[in-house]
Amino acid sequence: MDLTELRGKYIEAVAQAADEAALEDVRLAALGKKGEISLMMAALGKMDPEARKAAGAALNVVKTEIDAALRARKQGLADAALDERLRSEWLDVTLPGRPRPRGTIHPVSQVMEELTAIFADMGFSVAEGPQVESDWYNFDALNIPPEHPARQEHDTFFMHRAEGDDRPPHVLRTHTSPVQIRAMMAQGAPIRVIAPGRVYRMDMDQTHTPMFHQVEGLAIDRDISMANLKWVLEEFCRAFFEVDKVELRFRASHFPFTEPSAEVDIRYSNVGGQLRIGEGDKWMEILGSGMVHPKVLAAAGVDPDQWQGFAFGLGIDRIAMLKYGIPDLRAFFEGDLRWLRHYGFAALDMPDLPGGLSR
Ligand code: DAH
Repeated sequence: MDLTELRGKYIEAVAQAADEAALEDVRLAALGKKGEISLMMAALGKMDPEARKAAGAALNVVKTEIDAALRARKQGLADAALDERLRSEWLDVTLPGRPRPRGTIHPVSQVMEELTAIFADMGFSVAEGPQVESDWYNFDALNIPPEHPARQEHDTFFMHRAEGDDRPPHVLRTHTSPVQIRAMMAQGAPIRVIAPGRVYRMDMDQTHTPMFHQVEGLAIDRDISMANLKWVLEEFCRAFFEVDKVELRFRASHFPFTEPSAEVDIRYSNVGGQLRIGEGDKWMEILGSGMVHPKVLAAAGVDPDQWQGFAFGLGIDRIAMLKYGIPDLRAFFEGDLRWLRHYGFAALDMPDLPGGLSR
């Protein structure tokens, strides 16, 4: 057979092979043990040496060409098969963007950050305590024994005890004052802490909600006086409200855990639901305070003959209403996104003193 024709036949067959199985058939037919070219190679042996040399060389060229075509086609088919798999097994792992309601920083969180920055500047660190509190921390240690009328005034939420368990029930803390006891027991004196957090009382109207926020302040050292308390509170209000004109009114009062005690009111006006600080003829009570009672120091393991100091409890929601002109407290906790968009703060505006508290 003419070698050119032979070559042409197999090169064509290789090109026509549609898949790897068909290609293998072509390979066997040409180069397999019983393949056409293999048999021709074997037949060379019967030729005389001169003729064998020339025919052998020519046949080898054809064999090499067919072999190369087979390999190239095989690679081409494999590439095509991979492309096809990639096409058919493709998976879109992306999701279309979903418009989400954009949240804001709640005014209460904002105010907590602001007051933490102000008190940190005066050397106070932040202390924490549990919201479910024992009655000893919430009352007894603060000089409010079981029969004391102040227990009734606190409209306390009580936790359940198991049937037959006669110990006094735990309470949802009615104020942040128990954190004073915990902080003094943990750190001793001298100490300067604030404790912002949630507190609970059974109460509900335009200025009261069953859960609200207080910040407790405590400063104990050898010679801390009522004058220090007054300076710290005035300094705090000036920094917090960011207005020069802030007017405070100290009123003599009574708390079991302080002696003497004072309540502090701040002057404000309410014109058509717009609250303004430092003007008008209204006063809003924002905090209770006083010199920590010796019995409270003793209960927390601090020697009242060596140490003394002041404490205060400030209503965070109240000062948020006043600073940001929010007339109704109940709306704070309704989770209405329209309200949050109006009164909330951008997440990246962390308040600090040099940068300004409420940009
Ligand atoms: N615990 C009081 C309350 O919730 C507020 C208070 C008054 C806290 C006087 C104090 C304080 O630390 O000295 O009504």
